[in-house]
Amino acid sequence: MTARVAFVTGGTGGIGTAICRELANQGNRVVTNYRNEEKALAWQAAQKAAGFDMAIVPGDVSDVASSAAMVRQVESDVGAVDILVNNAGITRDTTFHKMSALQWQEVMRTNLDSCFNVTRQVIEGMRARKWGRVLQISSINGQKGQYGQANYAASKAGMHGFSISLAQENAKFGITVNTISPGYVGTDMVMAVPEEVRAKIVAQIPVGRLGDPDEIAYAVAFLAADKAAWITGANLAINGGHYMGW
Ligand code: CAA
Repeated sequence: MTARVAFVTGGTGGIGTAICRELANQGNRVVTNYRNEEKALAWQAAQKAAGFDMAIVPGDVSDVASSAAMVRQVESDVGAVDILVNNAGITRDTTFHKMSALQWQEVMRTNLDSCFNVTRQVIEGMRARKWGRVLQISSINGQKGQYGQANYAASKAGMHGFSISLAQENAKFGITVNTISPGYVGTDMVMAVPEEVRAKIVAQIPVGRLGDPDEIAYAVAFLAADKAAWITGANLAINGGHYMGW
C-alpha cells in the first residue's frame, strides 16, 4: 500500500488522537499541528511510547498566514498532503442573547474559516497529483442545532456546505470530499458540559452511551481509503442514533 501523508488538524485532542492513530494503522505518515509546543511534545512522546510515529508542526488554523506556513512545513518535513482531516474545533457555548461578538468570531474562525485556510493550501497539489481526500469533522449539532450553540451549529453546518461544493469542483481530479458528523463522544469537550445537562443529553441517545473516539476514527480511515473513491459529498452521521437524518 502507498504510504500517504495524512494531515490531521487538532490531532492532539480527543477525537484527533484517535484519527491520527487509525490513519497511522492504515499505513499513512501522519502529521498534526499545534499551538502549544510543550503540550504537543508531551503528546508526541506519549504516541511514541504507544508505538506511533507522529510528526508535529506549529500553526494556527484560524489564521491565514499561519496556516500557509504550517502546510509549507508539513510539505518540507513530511511531504505533500494527500489526506487532509479538518478536525480542529472549539466551543464557546452560551445562549445567543448573551453571546459576545468574540464568542461568535472565535468559533467561526477556528471551526469554519480553518477549512478555507488549510484546504486552500493543499487543494492545488491534490488536483495536480490527481488524488486526494478532504474530510471535515463536523457535528450532530450542525445537523439538528443545539440550545446554547448558535455559533458552533452555524460553523458546523457551514462545514458541510463547504464539503459538497468542493466535492463537485474536484470530483474529476480523484479527490473526494466528505463530512463526518459525530454525536456526543466522551472527550474533554463533551465532559466540559455541566454534568446534569450532559446526563439529559445522554438520555436522548438510543444506543444509551457516549461515543468512543475510535468509533469516529474508524469512519475517517474508511473514507480516506482508496476503495472509498466513489463516496464524495456525503455527510456520515455517527451518533448512536441521537439524530437520524436521511
Ligand atoms: N432545551 C430547552 N430549554 C433548555 C435547554 C434545552 N436543550 N437547555 C437548557 N434549557 C433551559 C433551562 O431549562 C433553563 O430554563 P429555566 O431558566 O426556565 O430553568 C434555561 O434554559 C437556562 O439554562 P441553563 O441554566 O443551562 O443556562 P446557562 O446560561 O447556565 O447555560 C448553556 C446555558 C451553556 C447552553 C448550558 O445549558 C449548556 O452547556 N448546554 C449544553 C450545550 C451543549 O450541548 N454543548 C455541546 C458541547 S460538546 C460539542 O459541541 C461536541 C459536539 O459536537 C456534540
